[in-house]
Amino acid sequence: MGKIKAAITGVHGYVPDYILTNKELETIVDTSDEWIRTRTGIEQRHILKQEGWAASDMGREMVNGLLEKTGAKPEEIDLLICATITGDMVFPDTANTIADKVGAINSFGFDINAACSGFLYALSTGAKFVESGSHKKVVIVGLDVMSSILDYSDRTTCVIFGDGGGAVLLEANDTYGIEDAILKSDGNGRNFLNMPAGGSKLPPSAETVKNKQHYVFQDGRPVFKAAVKGMSSAVTDLLNRNNLSKDQIDWLVPHQANIRIINTVASQLDFPLERVMINIQKYGNTTAGTLPLCLWDYESQLKAGDKIVLTAFGGGFTWGATYLTWAY
Ligand code: ACO
Repeated sequence: MGKIKAAITGVHGYVPDYILTNKELETIVDTSDEWIRTRTGIEQRHILKQEGWAASDMGREMVNGLLEKTGAKPEEIDLLICATITGDMVFPDTANTIADKVGAINSFGFDINAACSGFLYALSTGAKFVESGSHKKVVIVGLDVMSSILDYSDRTTCVIFGDGGGAVLLEANDTYGIEDAILKSDGNGRNFLNMPAGGSKLPPSAETVKNKQHYVFQDGRPVFKAAVKGMSSAVTDLLNRNNLSKDQIDWLVPHQANIRIINTVASQLDFPLERVMINIQKYGNTTAGTLPLCLWDYESQLKAGDKIVLTAFGGGFTWGATYLTWAY
């Protein structure tokens, strides 16, 4: 008998109702629709404004939708992992809050903090539990409420990010599933992309609030270069390791940080854009949410056996690529 694989057997996304357009951003900060479109490819992003809602409420919507779609029952979930950098609180984790809100009374869970690569890290982690046979139904959530850590007077960051994400169900399959992954990190990248205060290095104080240190800090250019290099090399190494040519891959699913990054990675890989999932124009960069949101948006175009490569790059630095075969 062949190895048990962990297959994605359902995906469901969620974005909040409120749409923040580039035009509205023009009234908030010194920017223009033209600059944002041409430099990032973003036309709008969704922002969480529902009274009293937090990351776990978006997660609840994702998981409830996933359960409805797949017919799985909440009590059948054995493990729920949430990839996020904007959980409800610093602790406890958001995964268990989501589990509580959806009635996943038999699951255990934890969060993964790997910024934009969080979904890839969580997918590999969850897959190990399915592949070992110890857990049957594993839910992976990737989401972020980036609006909660953005400075809307900083035009270099506030135009890029949005709120949202998605959830997938992993189940055992003897034919299709997660085939291979290359996951990488380099802690030296922490200086280029971070949220300076709120942790043990710089606990919250009146000073840190005054200095705006509870917001995303990004040195955009070096991050741009590292993102292109990291995603291109991870995909190349993954294809080589699996004796795959780009022509055998049905879909490339890149993290949605900037259309220029996506185009450059596709061009370096010589991969046709018609087979690259792109939805950055609708959602902006939802950090851990971009990859499941892509799978959700393109789900109707996928078929069993499709060869898909996901790739991401984010704060840490963290990056990687995952090769999977679609199961339905
Ligand atoms: N509107 C108008 N002008 C702007 C804006 C804006 N929103 N933002 C920056 N500018 C200006 C700058 O002030 C600068 O002006 P100057 O030349 O007069 O100084 C000029 O535009 C160029 O600035 P750059 O920072 O060089 O712009 P760049 O083309 O690099 O785009 C961006 C910036 C979009 C941030 C880009 O660098 C990028 O996408 N970086 C990578 C993002 C990424 O991949 N992040 C990783 C994932 S995120 C995570 O993990 C949480």
